[in-house]
Amino acid sequence: MPGGARDALPDMVDEGSDVAETSSDGVAVGGAGGANDNAFVRFAEVQKSYDGISLVVKSLNLDIAKGEFLTMLGPSGSGKTTCLMMLAGFEPATYGEIYLDGQPINNVPPHKRDIGMVFQNYALFPHMTVAENLAFPLNVRRMGKAEVQERVQRALDMVQLGAFGGRRPAQLSGGQQQRVAVARALVFDPKLVLMDEPLGALDKQLREQMQYEIKHIHENLEVTVVYVTHDQSEALTMSNRIAVFNDGVIQQLAPPADLYERPDNSFVAQFIGENNKLTGTLAARNGTGCEVTLDTGESVKALAVNTGAVGERTMLSLRPERVMVDPGEGQCDTRVPGRVEELIYLGDHIRTRISVCGRDDFIVKVPNSTEHAGLAPGNDVALGWRLEDCRALDMPANE
Ligand SMILES: Nc1ncnc2c1ncn2[C@@H]1O[C@H](COP(=O)(O)OP(=O)(O)OP(=O)(O)O)[C@@H](O)[C@H]1O
Ligand SMILES: [Mg+2]
Repeated sequence: MPGGARDALPDMVDEGSDVAETSSDGVAVGGAGGANDNAFVRFAEVQKSYDGISLVVKSLNLDIAKGEFLTMLGPSGSGKTTCLMMLAGFEPATYGEIYLDGQPINNVPPHKRDIGMVFQNYALFPHMTVAENLAFPLNVRRMGKAEVQERVQRALDMVQLGAFGGRRPAQLSGGQQQRVAVARALVFDPKLVLMDEPLGALDKQLREQMQYEIKHIHENLEVTVVYVTHDQSEALTMSNRIAVFNDGVIQQLAPPADLYERPDNSFVAQFIGENNKLTGTLAARNGTGCEVTLDTGESVKALAVNTGAVGERTMLSLRPERVMVDPGEGQCDTRVPGRVEELIYLGDHIRTRISVCGRDDFIVKVPNSTEHAGLAPGNDVALGWRLEDCRALDMPANE
């Protein structure tokens, strides 16, 4: 099933039985009343408007399993932080209900939700030492002194800052401060941790290192994480599933590989990874396949993923590594002529820009083999692909 509905559900869904209904686009549909389900977090028909006029979150239905690492990914302003704020309790939902562990929480104040949080700008208390910062959520919970000490040390060790308890935040690097923030969100053993662009302020190397650390902490603690980022590689690296947001709507909810290999619509195809697009009109449909007449006249066989009726416009999506150069007989379902414009040597493969079907921005990743050693700008080549690697999707609004 494209876009992974049931097959996209993470394997850490416990309690055995079935999970919430899913709509055709893979987004979980909230059950009535939130009872009788296995979702640990459930957004059921949640809407949010700040101004009473426009919705920045539109009828959000999303089930998150216990122990899952779910990432909300999307462009700026798509509603990710708003969703996290509603889950944390800092923003009320305009409509709909949010459930945590089966209980409706719309009327539960933030501090009673027992949710750990990490934000982009660490927000540690500057006048407290690192250890005091970590002890804070424990003291609020009136935990005994010995236990507080033990937990603080354990949390610091977890983020490899065991020796830094006596320092103040200002005496730490950005990455170390962010680790303290992660430790503080986890120190009271919350069942759910929300992270909003927690690594956004760090440089690339540190960000990648912290991605692995957070991922390992998640695996070791078996805590449920809802993570927000607009960095797709971060989302692909860390998540069990990714909810791709655009304009307050989940466009697709699926594991990383599914999103890349089987985008449900043109937004996801273009937002995740590199995408070659061709535009045309649906000429015929036969089962799961279809035939599309390109605007330049060529006929292309594709998978009918998200198309209208015959005669309607469609965008074809092809990943650069799925396109073959001079394919042998029987290797492909569609063959079109092209001309090599530019080669970029990348060691194991050659990124090749090709003019084809009226476009000059078609990218093909050609394996660095002797077979293609003769490729040069100006060469005429044949391009080919298999039907299943060419996805016929909705036409983007701006085309
Ligand atoms: N407190 C607020 N009052 C009014 N409008 C708001 C408020 N917070 C967010 N918005 C608006 O709601 C929409 C969604 O914002 P949100 O912060 O959820 O986006 P986001 O996906 O987190 O974006 P980013 O990647 O930039 O952080 C935006 O149009 C934003 O301007
Ligand atoms: Mg945000």
